Amino acid sequence: MEKYPWWQRGIIYQIYPRSFMDRSGDGIGDLPGIIDRLDYLVWLGVDAIWLSPVYPSPMADFGYDVSEYCDIDPVFGSLRDMDTLIEKAHALGLRVILDFVPNHTSDQHPWFIESRSSRDNPKRNWYLWHDGKEHGAPPNNWLSVFGGSAWEWDESTKQYYYHAFLKQQPDLNWRNPEVRRAMYDAMRFWLERGADGFRVDVMWHLIKDAHLRDNPPNPDYVPGHGQPPYNALIPAYSTDQPEVHEVVREMRTLVDRYGDRVLIGEIYLPIRQLVAYYGDDGRGAHIPLNFQLITLPWNARQITASIAEYEGALPDYAWPNWVLGNHDNSRIASRIGPLQARNAAIMILTLRGTPTLYYGDEIGMRDSVIPPEIVRDQQEKNLPGLGLGRDPERTPMQWSPGPGAGFTRGTPWLPFGIDYKHLNVEVERDDPGSMLSLYRRLIQLRRREPALAIGDYVPVLTDFEDVVAYRREARGKAFLVALNLGHRPAQLLFAASECRGKIVVATEYRREGERVDDRIVLAGDDGVVVELDTGC
Ligand code: NOJ
Repeated sequence: MEKYPWWQRGIIYQIYPRSFMDRSGDGIGDLPGIIDRLDYLVWLGVDAIWLSPVYPSPMADFGYDVSEYCDIDPVFGSLRDMDTLIEKAHALGLRVILDFVPNHTSDQHPWFIESRSSRDNPKRNWYLWHDGKEHGAPPNNWLSVFGGSAWEWDESTKQYYYHAFLKQQPDLNWRNPEVRRAMYDAMRFWLERGADGFRVDVMWHLIKDAHLRDNPPNPDYVPGHGQPPYNALIPAYSTDQPEVHEVVREMRTLVDRYGDRVLIGEIYLPIRQLVAYYGDDGRGAHIPLNFQLITLPWNARQITASIAEYEGALPDYAWPNWVLGNHDNSRIASRIGPLQARNAAIMILTLRGTPTLYYGDEIGMRDSVIPPEIVRDQQEKNLPGLGLGRDPERTPMQWSPGPGAGFTRGTPWLPFGIDYKHLNVEVERDDPGSMLSLYRRLIQLRRREPALAIGDYVPVLTDFEDVVAYRREARGKAFLVALNLGHRPAQLLFAASECRGKIVVATEYRREGERVDDRIVLAGDDGVVVELDTGC
């Protein structure tokens, strides 16, 4: 396995720093808190942590509105704390990936303050300023992801600026070489401090159409059906422009100068467009994040088909990856229910490609209900009642059933999940039937077995439409994974030569150790990983 870089063999764990561990007692997680929990991450068996942004920020979008790229917000600690975190993590064999937010800054960033100060300010062209159309209408029909027009009028200089997200997050002008230089300096700053790479925020948004053409209407959009108003248009001209690949390539070249670091891109696009971000010759992102397991319905046929499509679309040089959850989407245990979340754990840790886990999913955390009066996420405030708010999946990590859930001595910034007394690390750690134990066994197995970490993926067809089944194999050793995504029992019959072996991990842990001959019997919602006898 050694010839595979760490980010291919390994497992990435996303930490939302506000919610992981609070050492200071102010109710908000911080870097010293993360340092205190590094041992847990080593025990769990992950290889790298990715931290959502910890830079100085007015927190309009909780850190995705950066007002200084080369420092740490005091709420999270200091630069010295980050140095200590990187040093301690490295000593424990963990890599540290930082979130990098290049598409936009905060409107409080000194660059934007200068840029908006006058039309002839030298930084004017660092952002996207345009005159309105006749009668003062915005330059085009582009929409903000967080609701309304993406253009904000600036009364003092009488022009509009573009913001793909909040109006407090003006988009940078990535066609301007000075912007590129400044952002690449910031990347170098962190790489030199020992960061192992970046998860690049909204990579596919970086470049917009030079002619600002209107986006076409989306024929599939039905207003008022829980879809964000942003979906009313197809963002054909505001995102995924051909020139973005040149920027990605520049970022990759920069990162590669520092040895075995990683460039990860956040990209919500269909498979064909997504794989273009590997770059024509593999000189793009190492990991263009693949969100199919988040965006697809939990349906065996659709998932099997999309795995096939993805595997088929990957160029030879491209390494796959899978994501089950993040800070922008409902938690897996809430989306598909706690039983199926176990199958999801098996899937993400046995598919071919780097898995990214979201903090708390390993203990089965669910979305919390956030009453309107304590909503923190601006997306929910702008678009209330559509179910788009992201607070529910950002509640504090549940470490123990004790006071403050082992997360804080103070009042948490978001409430704990109502089930935290049962779903927490302390209670689940020694219970072999818990979600945490299932995750840990899967992680240990993947670490131990090259067939699972780096082996081939071979789909297995069955007669049951609710079952996802596949083999993973390397160097004469093979595993068969069979997951029943439905609630009815399924009995899978195989030619004896295909399937003889032993269940090594199962959603129902008592089945572990069971022998399997020519059939696998799965109760509703059950899933198993079978270690096949040599020669199968
Ligand atoms: C994607 C991030 O994951 C999300 O949390 C954020 O609101 C937007 N980008 C804007 O930065």
